[in-house]
Amino acid sequence: MRFYKKRFILSLVFIGFCYVCYIALIGNIPLNDLEMPRKHYDILWTKKSEKLVLQFHQHSYDPSKVYSNPDDPYHDRILEQMHFVPNSYDPFRSSEKIIYMFDGLGDLPSGREKFVFDKCPVDNCVLTDDSIKMSDADAVFFKDSYAGDFVKDRNPDQIWILYMLESPFHTPDLTTFNGLINWTATYRWDSTLTAPYERFTLHKNISMNKLNTRNYANGKKKKVAWFVSNCGAMNQRLEYAKELAKYIEVDIFGACGELQCNSFDEKNSCSKLLQREYKFYLAFENSNCRYYITEKFFRNALWNDVLPVVMGAPKVDYEHAAPPNSFIYAEDFETPEHLANYLHRLDQNDDEYNEYFKWKGTGDLIDTKFFCRLCSLLHDESATPRYYKDIEKWWRTPLTCTRDKWSNSSHYITDWTATFQ
Ligand SMILES: *[C@@H]1O[C@H](CO)[C@@H](O)[C@H](O)[C@H]1NC(C)=O
Ligand SMILES: *[C@@H]1O[C@H](CO)[C@@H](O)[C@H](O)[C@H]1NC(C)=O
Ligand SMILES: *[C@@H]1O[C@H](CO)[C@@H](O)[C@H](O)[C@H]1NC(C)=O
Repeated sequence: MRFYKKRFILSLVFIGFCYVCYIALIGNIPLNDLEMPRKHYDILWTKKSEKLVLQFHQHSYDPSKVYSNPDDPYHDRILEQMHFVPNSYDPFRSSEKIIYMFDGLGDLPSGREKFVFDKCPVDNCVLTDDSIKMSDADAVFFKDSYAGDFVKDRNPDQIWILYMLESPFHTPDLTTFNGLINWTATYRWDSTLTAPYERFTLHKNISMNKLNTRNYANGKKKKVAWFVSNCGAMNQRLEYAKELAKYIEVDIFGACGELQCNSFDEKNSCSKLLQREYKFYLAFENSNCRYYITEKFFRNALWNDVLPVVMGAPKVDYEHAAPPNSFIYAEDFETPEHLANYLHRLDQNDDEYNEYFKWKGTGDLIDTKFFCRLCSLLHDESATPRYYKDIEKWWRTPLTCTRDKWSNSSHYITDWTATFQ
């Protein structure tokens, strides 16, 4: 009898030990250095696992705002999704969700690693690119494939997800996907999972803000810089820049200009050059499309302490995505000449110029934990089934993109057939 009791206690100790190891291992994986300086100050995890679920449910993010709502077009729902733990989810009992990556894993590790490494609140998902698993998968993720025989194999129990980061000008016709795609994952805020190039998030705790007294004009002798590789964009941006250059010094780097610098990744690179020498940066996108704001704006300009002049999405989209008072909207000016006059004025007035940098220190670009959010949503058993009857129409409504200014609706693209390559 005593023997059994001892064995029972030993087993308990052993189980407890394993549990502590598990929590210690899962809970202490360092943040991915490659993703710095994106911070993840809004920590989700505590190490007390049994209380974990409760704590999430008490969190201030509203779980009813996890799915897109046409009445709320400027809510990307990223923070809600990052904190979302479905009621039906049990970290120890819910069955694993298999996500089949139709176009391969790319840099992603297979299996559960990505979810554990990212400290997802819901991490019971695995990634695979093994085609044998396609039929068993809970979700199929399409990144570069838009058409093919595979559409015949549609298993209605699966969630099909379409991921797109390029604008409608640079993505093919999606008609063969009509009726097949359940969720979208794009830069658009009305996607099921918004996948922005970057997301600026104000500090929740304003005492984290840093007082900012720096003079951002200091030592900068040059005026406007532009780094550009694709000269034939769909929005007249090159013509605009050339016209602007008649009235203010514009240095064009890359394929469309005469100047060269090293890539943004290297030390002492384009990025250092921008920070040191230039006051303004043309963050002109290759497409004028709703919500289409890329790293050109966030990385090239904002994070290099240079004031961006933007062209791309409608102004209201920038106002929602950008830090407050952080950019100049090109279309606000009647002509490039008017813009140049304004830039000259800022160039001569450091106080006015520095007004555009007051936001610095009030927030960060965050890692939006895309795969964590995907895993959470896949575990939501109570979600209403959804799919896009006409995904092509969703992607290319008449208001999606314009060839020129947003203020003139006769430039909006209504017939897309001519734009497909
Ligand atoms: C806000 O941040 C400060 C400094 O980091 C900290 O002392 C304080 O407890 C935080 N407040 C809240 C409500 O988190
Ligand atoms: C996914 O889409 C299919 C149509 O392609 C539909 O029959 C199914 O109900 C959807 N599933 C969910 C969970 O939304
Ligand atoms: C709008 O664009 C069209 C076509 O380019 C042009 O004819 C028209 O004058 C423009 N309207 C305004 C108000 O600028």
